[in-house]
Amino acid sequence: MTPRRSTKPTLSPRDPTTLEAVGLGDVFFRQMVANMRNGVLAIKRDGLLVLINGEACRIFGLPVSTTYVGRPYSEVLRHHPDIVRVLAGAFELAALPNRADLRLKPTDKVIGYTLSLVRDDDGEATGAALFFKDLTHVEQLEERERLRDRLAAVGEMAATVAHEIKNPLAGIEVMAGLLKRQLAGNRDALGLVSEIINEAKMANAIVQEVLEFVRPVRLQMERTPLLHALQNAVAVADGKVRRGQIAITLDVPAEIPPIKGDGHQLTQVFGNLLINAYEALEGGGTIAIAARLTHDGDDGALLPDGHEAVPTVIVEVADDGPGVASELTDKIFNPFFTTKPQGSGLGLAIVRKIVDAHEGRIDMTSVPGRGTCFRVSLPVESTSEWVR
Ligand SMILES: Nc1ncnc2c1ncn2[C@@H]1O[C@H](COP(=O)(O)OP(=O)(O)O)[C@@H](O)[C@H]1O
Ligand SMILES: [Mg+2]
Repeated sequence: MTPRRSTKPTLSPRDPTTLEAVGLGDVFFRQMVANMRNGVLAIKRDGLLVLINGEACRIFGLPVSTTYVGRPYSEVLRHHPDIVRVLAGAFELAALPNRADLRLKPTDKVIGYTLSLVRDDDGEATGAALFFKDLTHVEQLEERERLRDRLAAVGEMAATVAHEIKNPLAGIEVMAGLLKRQLAGNRDALGLVSEIINEAKMANAIVQEVLEFVRPVRLQMERTPLLHALQNAVAVADGKVRRGQIAITLDVPAEIPPIKGDGHQLTQVFGNLLINAYEALEGGGTIAIAARLTHDGDDGALLPDGHEAVPTVIVEVADDGPGVASELTDKIFNPFFTTKPQGSGLGLAIVRKIVDAHEGRIDMTSVPGRGTCFRVSLPVESTSEWVR
């Protein structure tokens, strides 16, 4: 076949050497486009829409319908003026956008798109086609990656400082202990020295937490029965904070398979959530821990590639404490954010880091005055080996 105008060989769907030869016609083309995992949309030069596939409708938030074709694209896409502008420029621009990206304001989705002209056999531009992909998920991953890099830099400094502080702190504790012996009988002075020791211990616990937070995490992946991790977490929390009259209910259905994860670190995740709940409840109230298994993306299953849901275990830790004020909900996972006089603000930052390492997700919902619920979603089969 000799191309007529351009130097690129053009294969027309009408070309007898192509589709008809293998027994396929336009139907195949239509089905292929309809089932593509990319958004595809095409317009004619006169401004009418000739094609829009299901993925395009999903991304634009349009109900899937066959009535769009034949209507002006500017009308069908009136809620997406940015896309209308891109398409309107197709016949004027010398260089068409290739792998550009755009944020769709109404749905807050980010798309990556390529615009190309549809040319007839004479090379005349008769239409334009837009190919695009929903990049929202990729964007979120990149955002997390950036956050991780930032934390790595801060973390290195924090680790150095923490190490430097550890030694003098240990010194203070030891020497205050020696002083205590010399002060036998002097009750006032003994009281002060005990205070010094307590404060030094507290500072040491914070330094310990900082080191835990900044240390690179290597996951020891093993089949971890969730119930064990949760029971151990309760024991960890009981060892650190007085439980008082707080009642805990634990609901882990037998159908939940063991999770591929680091048992020790998952215990820490739930331990930290429980410690926070104990502290919020101040000795009285209820904590409900409930787990369930889901395979359904609409039901909260994780979508690692943005499309396909994977089997996910969702664990909710809910307390009926004072809740989190709505203006603080964005901040509670930030390292060093705390509302407690003696808090380190690292508990939830560590939790998030470990959950991220397991390729999971953590969300919090709270009704001030009614309680707080942390929801940890973990893939049953994490592929992750280690994360910093
Ligand atoms: N269950 C909860 N109820 C109310 N507030 C909570 C709860 N869990 C966490 N928070 C809030 O999140 C903040 C950060 O928690 P965290 O990172 O564990 O640090 P810390 O416990 O040292 O303050 C807490 O200071 C508190 O304000
Ligand atoms: Mg905490």
